[in-house]
Amino acid sequence: MLKLPVMTPHTAAKHLLLKRYLDRWFPILGKGDRSINYIDGFAGPGEYQDGEEGSPQVAIGAAKAHVDRGTLAPDVQIDFTFVEADPHSAENLRSKLSALTLPPSFTWSVVPGEFAEVIGAELDQIERSGTALAPTFAFVDPFGFSGIPLDLMARILRYPKCEVFVNVMVEFINRFLEHPNEQVVAHFPQTFGTDEVLEIPSRLGDRVAAILALYRSQLGTLARYVGRFDMHGRRDRKTYSLFFASNHPRGFEKMKEAMWSVDKAQGSRFSDADPGESYAFELFPFWPLWDQLLARFAGQRVPMEDVERFVVEETDFLPTHARTIFKECERKGDLVAESAPGYRRPPGTYKSDRVFIGFPSRDVRRGLF
Ligand SMILES: C[S@@+](CC[C@H](N)C(=O)[O-])C[C@H]1O[C@@H](n2cnc3c(N)ncnc32)[C@H](O)[C@@H]1O
Repeated sequence: MLKLPVMTPHTAAKHLLLKRYLDRWFPILGKGDRSINYIDGFAGPGEYQDGEEGSPQVAIGAAKAHVDRGTLAPDVQIDFTFVEADPHSAENLRSKLSALTLPPSFTWSVVPGEFAEVIGAELDQIERSGTALAPTFAFVDPFGFSGIPLDLMARILRYPKCEVFVNVMVEFINRFLEHPNEQVVAHFPQTFGTDEVLEIPSRLGDRVAAILALYRSQLGTLARYVGRFDMHGRRDRKTYSLFFASNHPRGFEKMKEAMWSVDKAQGSRFSDADPGESYAFELFPFWPLWDQLLARFAGQRVPMEDVERFVVEETDFLPTHARTIFKECERKGDLVAESAPGYRRPPGTYKSDRVFIGFPSRDVRRGLF
């Protein structure tokens, strides 16, 4: 008998984040690639207790909306693979997806089995044949901490335009790290790709922070860009973190945009304890970004595209945040924006390839924007 899960606010936020990213990812890839893979490694039953849809429908829905709107060409083949270990959940998902009317360019399969085995076997085949994995987004959303070997993430990330979005259940990990059963503990080195994780309990300091830092640095050995979004439970304890790993600056920027669209306050967290706060928060804390910009560019005249690259790759913020700051600073006379020759700049705009930003040589007087 299948017992459907309850949709919690943080699950809804996770789906929203996934949707916001895929809304951006599908059309970008669809412009240059004729074949795209979407993998959901822990797909679930495709249904929650009150009839809400699961992550598979979120992904299919995001792609379909683009085809319907004409923003994704109808000849871009999208192959969706949904892996689900529980046979009842897999069957439920299959019946839910069978009821959908989809563009002919979409193919999907619900594969009963374990993520690591199913996707590992597909990669074995690709590696044997010497071909490359088509651009792939792999959503890895387990319960717990086993069955998500870092080695598998490495095998996906080694191909161009392949990304992973993985749920790391940090509260669970913290609780089980000192479990007396060696078989339980044996999963950790696999998940983290290093035995170092087993040393965390014996170290001083914040264990949750150490677990997250280690996972981030391990992913950082596989992908140039790593982002993180934290989900907090009802008592506002950090429950799990979603890590995004990609080798593409554009993908990273789009994921950051998606994160900021879900958490308008910090772009990095959601809490069941205050689910409305992130949406209601309107005063954006700009000064940390301004501090970082000045630390890097004080006294310099910098092309806007270099500013953008710095903001995306080296801060937690987005170019849109920098533009908001520049507009305000320019209005107050604290910053000079210059147009490239022949370009007539509409006031308050900072076009990437047409504008230079003249930063002040020292911090200007602070005030509220
Ligand atoms: C957190 S739920 C997935 C929720 C789903 N991604 C969503 O957002 O709607 C985890 C699912 O993974 C399944 N599962 C557990 N271990 C698995 C494994 N090793 N491989 C694939 N699926 C697994 C469980 O049966 C469960 O349905």
